Amino acid sequence: MLLHIPAVLSADELRQIRAVLEAAAWEDGRRTAGHRAQAVKTNQQLPLESGAARELGAIIADRLMRHPTFLSAALPLRSVPPRFNRYAGEGAYGNHVDNAIFPVPGSPLSVRTDLSITVFLCEPESYDGGELIIEDTFGQQAVKLPAGDAVLYPGSSLHRVTPVTRGARLASFFWVQSLVPQDHRRRMLYDLDQSIQRLTGDHPDHASVDQLTNIYHNLLREWSIT
Ligand code: NI
Repeated sequence: MLLHIPAVLSADELRQIRAVLEAAAWEDGRRTAGHRAQAVKTNQQLPLESGAARELGAIIADRLMRHPTFLSAALPLRSVPPRFNRYAGEGAYGNHVDNAIFPVPGSPLSVRTDLSITVFLCEPESYDGGELIIEDTFGQQAVKLPAGDAVLYPGSSLHRVTPVTRGARLASFFWVQSLVPQDHRRRMLYDLDQSIQRLTGDHPDHASVDQLTNIYHNLLREWSIT
């Protein structure tokens, strides 16, 4: 499932985040690329251990963990701290797959990359190119969202970022291990949750609300791995 999550960040938060990023010291994105990815990656990234990455990453992780659409679709168990990248001057990232497992810094835990998330930090009209192209089961999707919006997609997808030919594209991205590893099961739980919420809104006293909520939790109990 590929899902657009609107309004993760407010206009004020975006201004604050962009101001920090514009003053930050960026490094060559090839530093963290694997052997195959190095040949196709020409972007910049914030050093993972930098104060700016930690400070801004904490804001983004906090906003997402309180966003009902993200929680309902991702069913997050744990995640790596958000990272930041910058594409400008024809910078691009060719077709690649992300690693299946990432260590969580400062912790013995690892994250299985069930889901990838990209939060767009610049208005789409401020740069040309920079589409995130995701090869989904339904074909190729080109994603370029308003500043503050995010896209959530399966970590198993081949994906790329097209060259930025004008302006600069700033984004945050990271990976989430879900309580429910299988994409099709998360999809069913998300659809069921959304239906329960609509029914609750339209008919709050309907007897089926409790029954459907019970089914939702029983499925989650059956399918979740902690
Ligand atoms: Ni990637």
